[in-house]
Amino acid sequence: MKCLVTGGAGYVGSHVVISLLDAGHDVVVLDDLSTGHRAAIPDGVRFRHVDLSNAQATHDAVTQDSWDVVFHFAALSSVGRSITEPFHYLRHNIMSSLNLIEACTSHQVKRFVFSSTAALFSNERDLSRIMDDAPVNPASPYGDSKFFIERALLWADRVYGMRTACLRYFNAAGADPKGRLGEDHRPETHLIPLAIDTALGLQSSLQIFGSNYSTRDGTCIRDYVHVTDLADAHIRVIDQLDTRSVAYNLGNGRGLTNLEVIESVERVSGCRIPWEWALPRPGDPAILVADSSRIRMDTGWQPRYRHIDSIVGTALNWRKRHPHGYDG
Ligand SMILES: NC(=O)c1ccc[n+]([C@@H]2O[C@H](COP(=O)([O-])OP(=O)(O)OC[C@H]3O[C@@H](n4cnc5c(N)ncnc54)[C@H](O)[C@@H]3O)[C@@H](O)[C@H]2O)c1
Repeated sequence: MKCLVTGGAGYVGSHVVISLLDAGHDVVVLDDLSTGHRAAIPDGVRFRHVDLSNAQATHDAVTQDSWDVVFHFAALSSVGRSITEPFHYLRHNIMSSLNLIEACTSHQVKRFVFSSTAALFSNERDLSRIMDDAPVNPASPYGDSKFFIERALLWADRVYGMRTACLRYFNAAGADPKGRLGEDHRPETHLIPLAIDTALGLQSSLQIFGSNYSTRDGTCIRDYVHVTDLADAHIRVIDQLDTRSVAYNLGNGRGLTNLEVIESVERVSGCRIPWEWALPRPGDPAILVADSSRIRMDTGWQPRYRHIDSIVGTALNWRKRHPHGYDG
């Protein structure tokens, strides 16, 4: 298949690009490199340096070729920064996505896969897993921007017949098991890479945000899913789009507290991790754990990296070999 991947120079996008290549598909990456890395795009993949906020440039890039499927990863994705800069986040994510969606519908693109998020949901107490049709109630402008884009995609289907898959990732983690790619956000805000950097002595201490959540040890609970398992889900979902649009929650279905993640990184690295308490971050729900039974049933998707130690292991391997990320 001929695939256009926006945000293919970023963390999740680059892992999907490499999985698409491994599966024999033809890939073009569209990215403005604002948070992504040129070095994360494999050799031989065509690259278009385009900012999706520019409607004309987006239209020109999309209409230059025909696409069997468009994958849309490009976004600003820090929950915390979206709370301090709400309008910047809403404008960036919504406008750039509308530019892309409009270009795709006018160019008769028939399949569109969108990176949505667990941040659609706010789960403060309920310990049950979140189903695909759970009530949407974003606790941040970031989550709201993704919700708006999901709604725009609903209209792209109804009015233009573009079939869409909204994949709500819970916490993407880990790195390519073959060591070709890894996670390199700047600044990094995700727990696993920060804990690994602390274990490796690349930073002195780790902050844990909030000690008073109603969870088993008072810290937030999250569902970590390996980025290569996410990539596999993207490829499996393409066939669903022959007949209908879908929305799936994607996680391992197992919640871990922040302290349990630190224990895992200590176990796998063999290093002690100094950490300290910090104030809870606004926009951080207590518990986010996915019920992914629907995508499993529809596509046969099964996460291969079920245990947190196996996820941490791949991330640690990459970071040890790339302590300066893609700059090294
Ligand atoms: N990482 C996670 O745990 C997670 C969880 C849920 C959802 N998501 C979503 O998955 C997607 C990818 O996340 P990530 O962690 O890989 O982020 P990332 O920052 O590593 O990747 C985003 C990519 O998009 C590009 N980009 C951003 N704005 C752009 C624009 N206007 N035009 C062109 N390119 C642009 C960046 O340069 C970067 O390469 C995002 O949409 C994010 O909201 C991520």
